[in-house]
Amino acid sequence: MGDRYIIKGNTKLVGEVSIGGAKNAALAILAAAILSDETCTIENLPKVSDISVLLSAIEQTGAKVDRVDDHTVKICGKTVSTKSIDYDFIRKIRASYYLLGSLLGKYKNAEVALPGGCNIGSRPIDQHIKGFEALGATVKLEHGMIIASADRLVGTNIYLDVVTVGATINIMLASVLAEGTTIIENAAKEPHIVDVANFLNSMGAEIKGAGTDLIKINGVQKLHGTQYMIIPDQIEAGTFMVAAAATGGDIVVKNVIPKHMEAISAKLQEMGAVVTEGDDSIRVVGNQEYKPTNIKTLPYPGFPTDMQPQMTVALCFAQGTSIITESIFENRFKYVDELSRMGATIKVEGNTAIIEKSSKFTGATVSAPDLRAGAALVIAGIIADGFTVVERIDYIERGYEDFVGKLCGLGAQIQRVTTDKEEQKFRLKKTS
Ligand code: UD1
Repeated sequence: MGDRYIIKGNTKLVGEVSIGGAKNAALAILAAAILSDETCTIENLPKVSDISVLLSAIEQTGAKVDRVDDHTVKICGKTVSTKSIDYDFIRKIRASYYLLGSLLGKYKNAEVALPGGCNIGSRPIDQHIKGFEALGATVKLEHGMIIASADRLVGTNIYLDVVTVGATINIMLASVLAEGTTIIENAAKEPHIVDVANFLNSMGAEIKGAGTDLIKINGVQKLHGTQYMIIPDQIEAGTFMVAAAATGGDIVVKNVIPKHMEAISAKLQEMGAVVTEGDDSIRVVGNQEYKPTNIKTLPYPGFPTDMQPQMTVALCFAQGTSIITESIFENRFKYVDELSRMGATIKVEGNTAIIEKSSKFTGATVSAPDLRAGAALVIAGIIADGFTVVERIDYIERGYEDFVGKLCGLGAQIQRVTTDKEEQKFRLKKTS
């Protein structure tokens, strides 16, 4: 059965939890670091497996990667010798494709394996390619590799047909060193886009407008080294906020940027949770009688798709029917079958989930279908009566640092186990 979490439920989460650096910002910033021949020191990295995989991919290019400690890395792109990234990395982590933008931007050629679909749906990269081509690159697909090359990259206007985080970042990476000015219209506005732009600007790039739908990039000749601290993770913070509400608990989520949390705070308040913002913290106090609500996932500042499964769990106990519409990814309700096995009453029709009130959840063995759904199943296990086993925790560990430790700090009864014997021991200990 492999590594799994075992949870004894029926617990309200209470206490304080500190949020780590934003995974999705970190992935792009690490790839951006090789744009300079000088050393970039990146701090507040989350210690999660996606980051280790990307660091290995960066090392494979020949760049110097010095892991100073769990949360700090120094990267020097001077020694990059290979401009090709294997399928092995892309298979493990899609965001390795940010190296396509960086390598193309700096060396005018790059080869990165084409990412396949994934558990949350087919994920095309046509807008990335459209952007590279508009800058003057030739992009070919051969033997499963995307091969991009250019004699010169020249700034231009690029209108994105869909609001995409990945393409917005990849085009920024490819254009910071291009000749002239690039304008990205209909750009994504997520907090991590701003963080990547701030990082690049701290290296000497000239990017304006990140955080709005029009980003202007004046190409510069070269980028220098920098020292940079990554912003807190919006989704990790949101997960604990929703966990507080869903378990009827009381959590102070520390080290957050409350502005980034507004869509989530607003929905929790609408349901009847008490949300109090501090300067860099948010307290969520749950209750027993929530109002139902409707949610549609949207690009930032809308409600994040990465918070959709966790919110579904919270809505399972609202006094009425809630509707969640997933408008970003086509296949993001896979976890509903697992939740149903724990007692949820949810009907999925196309990209909509209709959630009816459940009387209670009971523990079961469930399998995480993807990262955020995995976190949602853990929250469900903390609510449920009896024992829940969550399998495929490798998904969860891709994006949550010390999830078990942080939950235990809030009073959850959860343990990471590898063998049946360890699982049995936990069950016995918690039953006696
Ligand atoms: C990023 C996040 C992911 C989050 C998502 C939406 C990272 C590493 N991952 O993913 O956690 O769920 O943003 O907030 O940061 N699309 C196209 N063509 C393209 C690119 C995207 O049609 O070339 C579509 C996608 O299929 C999807 C939508 O655009 O329907 C948004 O995708 P995008 O914002 O690019 O998501 P990612 O960057 O992959």
